[in-house]
Amino acid sequence: MTTVIDLDDGRAPAGSWRGGPEGGSGRGGGEILCRDLVRIFATDGVEVQALQGLNLTVEPGEIVAVVGASGSGKSTLLTILSGLDTPTGGTATVAGTDLLAMGPKARVAYQRHTVGFVWQQTSRNLLPYLTARENVLMPLELAAPSRRERAARARRVDDLLDLLEVGHVAERRPAEMSGGQQQRVAIAVAMANSPRVLLADEPTGELDEATSAEVLEAMRGVNRETGVTTLVVTHDPTVSEHVARTVQIRDGRTSTETLRRTETDEHGQARHVSEEFAVLDRVGRLQLPEDFMASLGLRDRVRLALEPDHVGVWPDTPSRAAETGRDTGSAGSGGSGRSER
Ligand SMILES: Nc1ncnc2c1ncn2[C@@H]1O[C@H](COP(=O)(O)OP(=O)(O)OP(=O)(O)O)[C@@H](O)[C@H]1O
Ligand SMILES: [Mg+2]
Repeated sequence: MTTVIDLDDGRAPAGSWRGGPEGGSGRGGGEILCRDLVRIFATDGVEVQALQGLNLTVEPGEIVAVVGASGSGKSTLLTILSGLDTPTGGTATVAGTDLLAMGPKARVAYQRHTVGFVWQQTSRNLLPYLTARENVLMPLELAAPSRRERAARARRVDDLLDLLEVGHVAERRPAEMSGGQQQRVAIAVAMANSPRVLLADEPTGELDEATSAEVLEAMRGVNRETGVTTLVVTHDPTVSEHVARTVQIRDGRTSTETLRRTETDEHGQARHVSEEFAVLDRVGRLQLPEDFMASLGLRDRVRLALEPDHVGVWPDTPSRAAETGRDTGSAGSGGSGRSER
């Protein structure tokens, strides 16, 4: 069976790669903009570099999945973007707010109005003694306690619960809902004050595969309906089927991006194509995929050669050195690391 997924969420230019493979270089804009982001934790005299110069640009209205091994820095990134933690260095701007320059008052306003977040643990998202309706109402009342707005707030709660398809559990408490329903309500809570950016750290981590796919689809629906810029960390291996752009974090840096688009073949049939790109930062650093390195025994240093339309990378072995010399000689000038000594 062929699964056709509608990837057009109405915000990216038609037919283009969503966002493009530019996480490293950036285009200067972006609703989420991280440049050379560093976060060092020091506990008991031991330093952990959780983020080691991470670069990421997410355009307004985009939905991006973040994947990576345990300990690669995904939660550290999201905690910084949510305003709960401050980076050690670099820059981070979300919806025009410089996260390193925020004072305590601005931080509260930022968390209340600019970003919404959903955590993995359902218990962290919802208050257990409140119903779904009351949970969604809570952030609205905190933001605008005026009694006059009551009817408008009630409508907003209903609209959000309907958008997340959990209107039928509005009067239930979290313990009376399934895990998937709880996370949908949690998304409604996060969206209550119409944030510009929605952040989710493993929102499907405690769910089975089918429910996880439904919750990811629900996030995509919210992104499509409201235009909220969305960044979702997930372990779900099928995530790239739900979003057009998946960013991989390795050792505290964005290393590769998988971009997915639809193409129409000669018979007029739509098909999905996904392609993996390495992220190149502003000063030319990139991470080679681990399997490439293992397969060719690449380590410590490699030979590079500039060819007319690509860059060659060879292991640093004497036999390849001679060949590399021949190759680069024929490719003309401009290669790097080729000078004979
Ligand atoms: N508050 C902290 N104090 C000290 N070290 C921390 C702290 N938070 C995270 N770290 C360390 O920073 C690194 C990145 O952690 P992080 O939680 O961001 O990883 P992750 O990619 O979210 O992993 P997982 O997939 O397991 O959730 C890890 O080595 C972790 O031990
Ligand atoms: Mg984590």
